Amino acid sequence: MSQDVAAFDHWIRQEFVEINSALERLYMQQSDPANVEGIGDELKARLEAEGRSLIKALLDEGNTDEGFDAAFDLLGNVGLYMAACRRHEITEPSRETSSPLLEASALAMHIGASIGVTPRFATAHLTTHNRAVNGLYKRFTDLDDEKLFVDYNTKGILAYKRAADALLKIKPLGISHPMTAELLEVARVALEQVIASNQILFDRLDTQAFFNSVRPYYKPYRVGQQVYRGANAGDFAGINVIDLQLGLCFANESAYSQLLVDKFLYMMPEDQRILRDCMRRTSLMDDFLGAMEMREQSWYRQNLAQFLRVCEAHGQGAIQHHDQLVEKYIAQPAKQMESQHIDKVTASGPPLPVLLGALEKLRDRRAAAKRDDIRTRFDDIARLRASLEG
Ligand code: HEM
Repeated sequence: MSQDVAAFDHWIRQEFVEINSALERLYMQQSDPANVEGIGDELKARLEAEGRSLIKALLDEGNTDEGFDAAFDLLGNVGLYMAACRRHEITEPSRETSSPLLEASALAMHIGASIGVTPRFATAHLTTHNRAVNGLYKRFTDLDDEKLFVDYNTKGILAYKRAADALLKIKPLGISHPMTAELLEVARVALEQVIASNQILFDRLDTQAFFNSVRPYYKPYRVGQQVYRGANAGDFAGINVIDLQLGLCFANESAYSQLLVDKFLYMMPEDQRILRDCMRRTSLMDDFLGAMEMREQSWYRQNLAQFLRVCEAHGQGAIQHHDQLVEKYIAQPAKQMESQHIDKVTASGPPLPVLLGALEKLRDRRAAAKRDDIRTRFDDIARLRASLEG
């Protein structure tokens, strides 16, 4: 790590957190905590100037090529700085046509384009690829609710990845292999762990603290001329690997493939490869539907019953995400928010009702719910269940 890289990393872990935390405490004291205008102007100026001078040194240094991990990590630090400037409205994408953070934009675009990811901070920077130093990983603030949120996002993502890894191992073995039941069980247990972890998050995370002081760091911001949507816990391949391998979602259905196309560059290159590969494969559901004449075989009965339990768990997780987490922490507080701030609620940019409608469809695909307007596996799951009866 060069001296300039180390100095910036040190600042991100220390002063950056102190300034953001001090600003959050000032915002919280207002009767309208969503307002940031005219509050803590000296702190904001310090944040912008200190970050800018450290980044300028890095841009002048030019050669940031110390391998993928170092470049990805540095991109994360620049991204955290740009996201914080957006949160405090030092920058505001609807006010500007190009980011006023010229040096940060130039550095982020240089790194992002060279390693094949979007030039902003992504979920992986805060969760699965966030190195802890002496027990502390990188964060925006020192608020307990932010730590809780990041901890349980990381736990959920890691568990989804375990489920996805197990499902990917089935394909070369085939649905009748004796080990398939074991791999399906690994996937089911991991999905139950997602559900348990999300339940703890739901029970413990304070709604107001999350909505007012955590979520705003995940808003879209401009890098150079372009606005990049916010980071969300879904920006890893595993969740879609599960959708596609189980067969609950279809890569050739435009609403779903649109979602995949939009998220590719928000994922680590390794995840991009896994997802691309998975989009070309057939699903386990189709394999079971094609093997129904084997319904008397014990492998069929055992492995299909296990497969249906995995589908059930994946559906439960999706229902929980939508009906509990999204409802409690986004939809409800948005209803109570002062109307002038409402357009700034979501991380991905579209108006909230549009986002909620899209997430609801995703929930119903994963849960194989009965719907007439979109393709779900409701009927196919019913046929498979029926093949186990009698
Ligand atoms: C996407 C809310 C925690 C998995 C989203 C989106 C929202 C949201 C609103 C849509 C993208 C956007 O923001 O514009 C929340 C809230 C959470 C939470 C309020 C907790 C307070 C989690 C956790 C996981 C998770 C712990 C587990 C890994 C996902 C996934 C997506 C997503 C996979 C992408 C869309 C999809 O494929 O379903 N979340 N989320 N979320 N979230 Fe969460």
